[in-house]
Amino acid sequence: MAKPRTQFVCQNCGTVHNRWAGKCDGCGEWNTIVEEDPMGGIGGGPGKTPKKGRAVALTTLSGETEEAPRIQTGIGELDRVTGGGFVRGSAVLVGGDPGIGKSTLLMQAAAALSNRGHRIIYVSGEEAVAQVRLRAQRLGAASSDVLLAAETNVEDILATLAEGKRPDLVIIDSIQTLWSDIVDSAPGTVTQVRTGVQAMIRFAKQTGAAMVLVGHVTKEGQIAGPRVVEHMVDAVLYFEGDRGHHYRILRTVKNRFGPTDEIGVFEMSDIGLRDVSNPSELFLGERNAKSPGAAVFAGMEGTRPVLVEVQALVAPTSLGTPRRAVVGWDSARLSMILAVLEAHCGVRLGQHDVYLNVAGGYRITEPAADLAVAAALVSSLAGIALPSESVYFGEVSLSGAVRPVSQTPQRLKEAEKLGFSTASLPASSAELPKGNGKRWNEIGSLPDLVVQIAG
Ligand code: TYD
Ligand code: MG
Repeated sequence: MAKPRTQFVCQNCGTVHNRWAGKCDGCGEWNTIVEEDPMGGIGGGPGKTPKKGRAVALTTLSGETEEAPRIQTGIGELDRVTGGGFVRGSAVLVGGDPGIGKSTLLMQAAAALSNRGHRIIYVSGEEAVAQVRLRAQRLGAASSDVLLAAETNVEDILATLAEGKRPDLVIIDSIQTLWSDIVDSAPGTVTQVRTGVQAMIRFAKQTGAAMVLVGHVTKEGQIAGPRVVEHMVDAVLYFEGDRGHHYRILRTVKNRFGPTDEIGVFEMSDIGLRDVSNPSELFLGERNAKSPGAAVFAGMEGTRPVLVEVQALVAPTSLGTPRRAVVGWDSARLSMILAVLEAHCGVRLGQHDVYLNVAGGYRITEPAADLAVAAALVSSLAGIALPSESVYFGEVSLSGAVRPVSQTPQRLKEAEKLGFSTASLPASSAELPKGNGKRWNEIGSLPDLVVQIAG
């Protein structure tokens, strides 16, 4: 009988290679190719008799369900993002740029939980115990009963966790420092990170502890190394923000136990992160309503309305190819709006540099911002300030039509609360509040808006 051929599979993207190589042709990752037995799956390899299966009981979709048991931190914005607290037996990945404040947030969460009587273990692989203590002192958390360890070896961490402390929540800071004896590659490589994360998830499932894993994000915005880690955990939260600003936003990217479109807003101070329960006031705080190129966008983040200023600067270019720079919004989306303005509204921007910025280091993910962006661009080009009492929202299609967006009443209510009396919004918006003397400026297509602003 022929010797069974083994194959070499990239653990990052799944590409199959005939021989081992240092670099995967499929995804370009290094050290991700592992030898696997192609017959090792269903049916087993030659000479192996498959184990006799045991039937499991089938059940129906209806029936009793239990609420996931949660551990609330009491930090309002954090509990909002997790969907009501960390879930026991689950694993959460908290990703973010180095230095953004992940360790700070989790130390505050650890202290808050421990003050509520939960047993918390904080494993730091990046800082020595003395450093973690210093931070805790700064955060006023030094008197809490959080247990600390500075360790990076997976087997040692598991042994420590299993030692009878029975933690309710474990924080691993960070997964990039984890290394296991059973894998040869260096710490930080895909295989090491995956092995470490797998072991931590298994511990969480077995003991019912909640596992919080910290992961650094690379320049490309990915959790370093493995995208696969995101598939392995139950929830993925990203901590973002501009380092030059004080605001930090914790965003749900995936959540098996709660909503995925919530954000938590924090402000970084010299004694740690503070909850910001009304983000609109914060983002509009530095607003200069009289300058051209600024439009207030009435956005939604999950269940919460967020008002934020969109700023545009359109200036004649001195370059052959004009510049387009965007902070806080999708650059492809900006190109689309510019194209629609050119094609349908007669707004010529081919000889202009275009800069777009979302105030406060905030990042907009909704297409509903199209109308506010267009208004800001036209306002800047024409040198005419937009009416200061108006907010803008609506999605623009390639034909120039302005399409209705969801949750119109919530957006308008928040705008009213903050002193805006009118709104430019899509014509035929459903559920428009009527009869309270408000004037809604209903826009059917983008050319109408351009005429209104620039005359
Ligand atoms: P840190 O939590 O160490 O970031 P990460 O774990 O994501 O790498 O936060 C680092 C930054 O936060 C650092 O530049 C200092 C700042 N910081 C404050 O402004 N106030 C504070 O109370 C603390 C603890 C940190
Ligand atoms: Mg850190």
